[in-house]
Amino acid sequence: MNKLELVKGFLHGGDYNPDQWLKRPDILDRDYQLMDQSKINTVTVGVFAWGRLEPEEGVYDFAWLDDVFDKMNSRNGHVILATPSGARPRWMSQKYPEVNRVDSEGRRHTHGFRHNHCYSSPIYRRKVHEINMRLAERYGDNSALVLWHVSNEYSGECYCPLCQQKWREWVQHKYKTLEALDDAWCSSVWSGLYSDWSQLLPPSLLGDSKVHGMDLDWHRFVSDMTIDFYQHEIQPLKKVTPNIPVTTNFMAESLKEGQYTPLTGLDYGRFAKSLDIISWDSYPSWHNRYEITAETAMKTAYVHDQFWSLKQQPFLVMESTPSCVNWGQYNKAKQPGMHRLSSFQQIAHGSDSTLYFQIRQAQGNSEKYHGAVIGHDDSSDSRVFKDVQQYGQDLEKIVEVKGAIKRVRVAILFDWDRNWALNRGGGFGRPTRLGIQVLQKHYANFWHKDIECNVITSDMDFSQYDLLIAPMLYLIRQDTMKKLQKFVQSGGTLVSSYFSGMVDSNDRVNLDGWPKPLQDIFGIEPKELDTLLPGEHYHVSFNQKEYETTDYDQIMKVKNASVLGYYTDNFYVGTPAITRHQYGKGTAYYIGARLSAEFIEDFYDDIIQSLNLDNSFVELSNPVVSVQTRYNEDYAYHFVMNFSEQVQMVNFRRPSFDLLTQREVTKSVQIDKYGVMILKERQNNTLH
Ligand code: GLA
Ligand code: ZN
Repeated sequence: MNKLELVKGFLHGGDYNPDQWLKRPDILDRDYQLMDQSKINTVTVGVFAWGRLEPEEGVYDFAWLDDVFDKMNSRNGHVILATPSGARPRWMSQKYPEVNRVDSEGRRHTHGFRHNHCYSSPIYRRKVHEINMRLAERYGDNSALVLWHVSNEYSGECYCPLCQQKWREWVQHKYKTLEALDDAWCSSVWSGLYSDWSQLLPPSLLGDSKVHGMDLDWHRFVSDMTIDFYQHEIQPLKKVTPNIPVTTNFMAESLKEGQYTPLTGLDYGRFAKSLDIISWDSYPSWHNRYEITAETAMKTAYVHDQFWSLKQQPFLVMESTPSCVNWGQYNKAKQPGMHRLSSFQQIAHGSDSTLYFQIRQAQGNSEKYHGAVIGHDDSSDSRVFKDVQQYGQDLEKIVEVKGAIKRVRVAILFDWDRNWALNRGGGFGRPTRLGIQVLQKHYANFWHKDIECNVITSDMDFSQYDLLIAPMLYLIRQDTMKKLQKFVQSGGTLVSSYFSGMVDSNDRVNLDGWPKPLQDIFGIEPKELDTLLPGEHYHVSFNQKEYETTDYDQIMKVKNASVLGYYTDNFYVGTPAITRHQYGKGTAYYIGARLSAEFIEDFYDDIIQSLNLDNSFVELSNPVVSVQTRYNEDYAYHFVMNFSEQVQMVNFRRPSFDLLTQREVTKSVQIDKYGVMILKERQNNTLH
C-alpha cells in the first residue's frame, strides 16, 4: 500500500499558500487554528512557490515549508506537496529566455503569468529536476507527506525552435519516409508535398492551417510532449520516494455556457497511464440562468464519471471552491446547502477527497476575490467557513466509505483524437458537431434513472459492460472496429449513430464505402448525411410515435438489419432511420438522426429492461434526485442527492441506515432542497 492508501478517511483541505503571508506570523498561526476548527486535515503546498523556494539561482529557502510540515505533523495532518514548475522564478526567465514559450505566431513571451513554460527546453528540464530532487530528498521521509502534486493543470503548446525540432523528430519517427508522410496528410492538396524534412513546421495561422492530418498529429504531439515533460518531472520523485504516489491535477473546460467536459486539448486517456491516482479540479457553474440545477449536476456527474473511468479507481478532487470563483463573467456564491451537496456529489462518484482552492483568500492580484475557506474577514463565523466546517464534520461520519469502488455495467465511448478530428473537418454544420454534448444527452437518460455509466476510451476493456454507447464514431481505428465486433459477437449491446466510420486515424475519408467491420456489426450502409439548418426539423416514426430530428439526418441502406424507425418527411421519406441488428450473440443499434431527449428516453426503455439495468435499490427514479452507489466488501453506500429547489419524495426497495443522521430510513422518504442522504446497506441485500 502506498502512503495515500494508508490514510484513514477522506482528505479535506486544499491549496494553501503560506508563501504569500510570510510577513504575517499572526495570520499563519491563525490559519492552523481555523483549519482545526473546520476539520481540515490536508494542505496542498508549494504549487506556485518556486520564487520563494529558490529566490536566487542555487539559493534555497525551505524554512517556511519545513514549518508547514511541522504544523501538519503535530496535528496528524497530511501534506500534498507540489512540484513548482507551474510558475517559475523571475530570475530564470530573465537569465534563460528559452524557458519561456513561443506562440504560434513566433513571439517569444516574456516572464509573467503561469503554466507557460517550454516543455522541450533542456535548461527548464534541468532546473525542474533539481528542485524536484531537493524537495524529494528533504520531505520524502516526512510522515505528513502523502502525495506528489506534479506541476499544475498542464496545458498549452510551445512553438519555439526547440519544440519545432522535437516536432520534426516526432513526425519523422512516426512516418519514416516523406512519401508516407505525404500520403498520411494528403499533401498533394494545394501543393503541400514535402521534399525535405526541414520543411516541416507546426500548424499555424501564418502557414499550414488546413492540413487536417497535420492538425491531428500536432494534438497528439502536444499530448506526448506534455506527458514526456511530466515523466521527466516524476523521475526524481519516483527514485527517492517510491511509496509516495504521484498525480497531476486534470481540468474540465466550459467553452460555452452550458458545456462542461473534461479538458479536450490533452489526451487524458493516454496521460492517465502515467499517474498513480487521478485528480481533477472541479468548478461547475451552479445557480446559472441557462439550465436547471439538475442539468448542471448531470454534466458535473458526467465529468466525475469520466475521471473515475480513467483508472476505475477512487480519484481525488484536487480543487473546488467553497463559494465562488473569480474567473467567470459573473461569479456567484453557492447558495445555502449547495456546498455540502456539490461536495458530496464528488464523493458519490468516487472521489476520496474534497479539496479547495484555496484555504486562505489572497490579498492581491488575480485571485483576490476567488472564494476561500478563510476569507478576508478572517472569520470563523462567515457562512462559507461554517459550510466548510459542517461538511468537514459530515465527512468524518462517513470515513468507512473511503476507498469504496463503483460497479458499472454501461459505458460511453470517448476518444480525444476522435473529438479533435470531429471538430476539425469543414463541411456539414460547423457549430453542430457537438460530439460531447451528444454523449451527455445519452448519459443524462441514465443519470435520470440512477443507472451508473463509465466514460471510457477505445483502449480500455469493453467486455465488462453489458451496454456500450458509442454515437458519432467519426474517426475509428481498425483495432477499435475489431474490439467492437468482438464485444457484440460475444453478447454485448452496442448503440451507435450518424457521423460514424467516416475517417481513418489520419483524418482521411474512408473510401470504398463504409468500413466492412461496421457493415457487419450494424447490418447497414450509411449513405448521405443531410445537414439541417438551425430551426429546420424533419421527423422519424419509432414505436408508433413521431420524433423531431435536428442538425443531422443520415440516409442509409439496410443490408440485413431490422428497421425500427423511418423518416416520415423530406426527400428520404419512408427510408430507414433506426435499425437493430443481431450480430453473434449480441445486438447493435444504429440511430440515423439527431433526435430529442424524449426519443433517447423511449429508445433505451426496452434495452434497459431487457438487460435488467435498472437501479436495484431505487424503486422509482426521480430525475432531479440522483442516486449513486459506492461499494466495499460488505456494504453498499447509496448517495441520495436532491438537485432541485423543492422537497422531493424518493422510494427505495429496501430500508437502510443513513450515516449522516444515524437513523434507520424507511422505503419512502422526503428529501429537502439540496438535501443529501448516505444510505448504508449490507451487501448481500443488494444481490437479489
Ligand atoms: C485553477 C488553478 C488554481 C486556481 C483555480 C481558481 O484550478 O489550478 O491555481 O487558479 O483555478 O479557480
Ligand atoms: Zn518550446
